[in-house]
Formats: sequence, structure tokens, C-alpha cells
Amino acid sequence: MPKHRFIATGLAVAALAAGVSHAAAQDTVKVGLVLPMTGVLGPAGQETAAGVKLYMAQHGDTVAGKKIEVIIRDDASVPDNGKRIAQEMVVNDHVAILGAGTTPTAMSMAPIATDSKTPTVVMISGTSVVTERSPYYVRTSFTLGQQAGIIADWAIKTGSKKAVSVLTDWAPGAEAGKAFEQHFTQGGGQLLETIKVPLQNADFAPFLQHARDLQPDTLFVFVPAGQAGTFARQFAERGLDKSGIKVIGPGDIVDDNDLLASGDSLLGIVTAGFYSAAHPSAVNKQYVADYAKATGGKRANFISVGGYDGMHLIYAALEKTKGKTDPETLLGAMKDMSWESPRGPISIDPATRDIVQNVYIRKVEMRDGQPWSIEFDTFPAVKDPLHQASN
Ligand code: PHB
Repeated sequence: MPKHRFIATGLAVAALAAGVSHAAAQDTVKVGLVLPMTGVLGPAGQETAAGVKLYMAQHGDTVAGKKIEVIIRDDASVPDNGKRIAQEMVVNDHVAILGAGTTPTAMSMAPIATDSKTPTVVMISGTSVVTERSPYYVRTSFTLGQQAGIIADWAIKTGSKKAVSVLTDWAPGAEAGKAFEQHFTQGGGQLLETIKVPLQNADFAPFLQHARDLQPDTLFVFVPAGQAGTFARQFAERGLDKSGIKVIGPGDIVDDNDLLASGDSLLGIVTAGFYSAAHPSAVNKQYVADYAKATGGKRANFISVGGYDGMHLIYAALEKTKGKTDPETLLGAMKDMSWESPRGPISIDPATRDIVQNVYIRKVEMRDGQPWSIEFDTFPAVKDPLHQASN
């Protein structure tokens, strides 16, 4: 075994032993969340934390007689920080449960979760492979594959023949692009080109110009949370909103947090997504109203529900175990859980520990002077297609 891995394992085992006696001795359950509170993915960390805090504000901080203490630490959008922070949380803070944020960080901290046997709720990551990196990972966010294949099929059905993909250049973008390409070409469409945009310092303008020059009838776009506002502005500046090109994507491109301020530049864009602030349910109306109140008027978005539902999963599992936090019991309680989220009905697939959720087809429309993603079709209980393929 390489030396660094041996040290990590040794520390984690020591921490596990300390954690067990510690947890038994007291009535607090510590939950350690590793989130990107700053850096390029800072908005996603902030929104996840807002969802977590809202859940606790609504449901109190005691479950099955245990006080829940949430510790949030910033990985600054740097994956290696995530591993170090997760280790510190296990060793020094004796957390019983971890929360992981974006894909790179979730990948880097997976060995810590595994070696210390710490159930870990993945609250942001959208790549399929993440839940396979540790048997202690359970996801409440989404996968890009869940959405990208469905929107490709919709595009074919509505007459798209020649598409260009514009994707942020990192694992989630690659996964979205792959699922789109598979479905689009299988349906008889032609993918003219895949254009990759750097994740840092998002500047879409030159890439959009190039995409337009290729004269597609359809543009498939993936940008991560926090970048839809920049995209919308540059898209309108280039006149693409009036070009007649059909713009589609997974839900990230119409992130509700950015949609609110996007005027009419994203009107008509059709996406396959799992959450819209306009989702017409009582649970969601309450969520959107409470989220706005708690955040000074922000609109709840698809990232925030990953944090909100992540906390629900932790609370519901602790209720089921009557406050017991030994890893296998707690993890067992998390698998096969189902509940009504603001996004609609969701569950955890016990075989993959991944989220199963409705995917909705939505179109951006003006309602009462504001743009919203209005759902008009539903694909119920969608599993991650890449896990499906490898099973
Ligand atoms: C991810 O970390 O996988 C991720 C983050 C933000 C997104 C999509 C995917 O919008």
C-alpha cells in the first residue's frame, strides 16, 4: 500500500474508533458538510447551505432525541481541499455523517468516507460515477445523464436534425454531452461539433459565435450553476435569442436563481430538468416562499433542493434508527427511502444509492412579468441511465 494511503487509512481508523466512543457518550449528531462556499462554484455551495439551513429552520435541530449540529467548511472549489477537510471532520470533529458537494470534491473525499465508514450525502454532484466511488455515498442531487438523454429525444421528436453542443469543460459537461450525443444520433440526428468552454472565468461569447457559424438548427448547452446569468447575457448580446436556433439543455442553463434576472433573453428555451421554482405543488410553493424569506428574496433553484433534501434524508434516517448512528444501520436506513420533495416525488435506489426522480420538460415563459420554467411533460421516476447501462 502506498505510504500516503496507509497514513490516511490509519488516521481514519483511529478516528472511527474515537468517533464511536464519542458518539455513544453524547447526544449530539455532528454532520460535516464540505461545500464550495467560494471560488468558481461558490454560488452552488451557498445555495446548498441555504437549503440545509432552511430545512433545519423549518424542522428544528433535534431528531429522535439527538441534537443535530451542522458544520459547514469551504473547499474553495479546490478538490484537494475537500479531502483534507473531510479527514479533519472525521478525525477532529468526530462527525457521524458527511456531506459532499461538487463532483471533483466528492471524488477526492470518497476514500475518507470509505475508510472511516462514514455515511455521506452527496448534495451537488451530477456525475454518475460519484456514487460508485464509495459504498457510503448516497445522492440527493441529480445526474446530468438523467436529463440530457430525455431532452435529446424531445429535440428529435420536435424536428431537430443538426445540433452543436456547447459544454463546460469538466466531468459533468462531458457526461451531459455524452448522453445527449448518444440519444441524438441514435434518433437520426447529426452532431456537427462539440465545443468545450473552460470552467474558470466563463466567457461564452467566442464559443457562441463559432456555434452559430456552424448553422445548426439546435444548440445543446450545459453550463454549471452560477454561470447561467453570464450565458444569458452573452447569448442575447450575440442576437442568438432572435436567431431561430432551438436552444435546449439540462436544467442548469435555466437555473432559477439566474433566470429571475435574465429578462426575456432565455424565453422559449426548453430544458429537461428535475426542479423548477414554478413546479405546481403545495410543498414547492411553501419551499419557494420560505426560501425567498430566508435569503432576502432569492428564488429557490435546483441546487438548493439537493441540500434541503439531503437534510431531509439525514433527519428521516435518524428517525428510523431512533437516533442510532452506527454506519451500517444509518446507511441502511437511508437506502430505499422515499418522500415528497419540493421537486416532486423522489426516492433512493437501494441498489445504487442514487436518486430516482421525475424529469420534467419545461419551457421558459413570462408569468406576471417574470421568466419561469413551466413544466409541460413529465417522465416519472427516472433512474440514472449510466448506472442502468452498467448494471
Ligand atoms: C457537479 O459538481 O457535478 C455539478 C455542479 C453544478 C452543476 C452541475 C453539476 O450545475
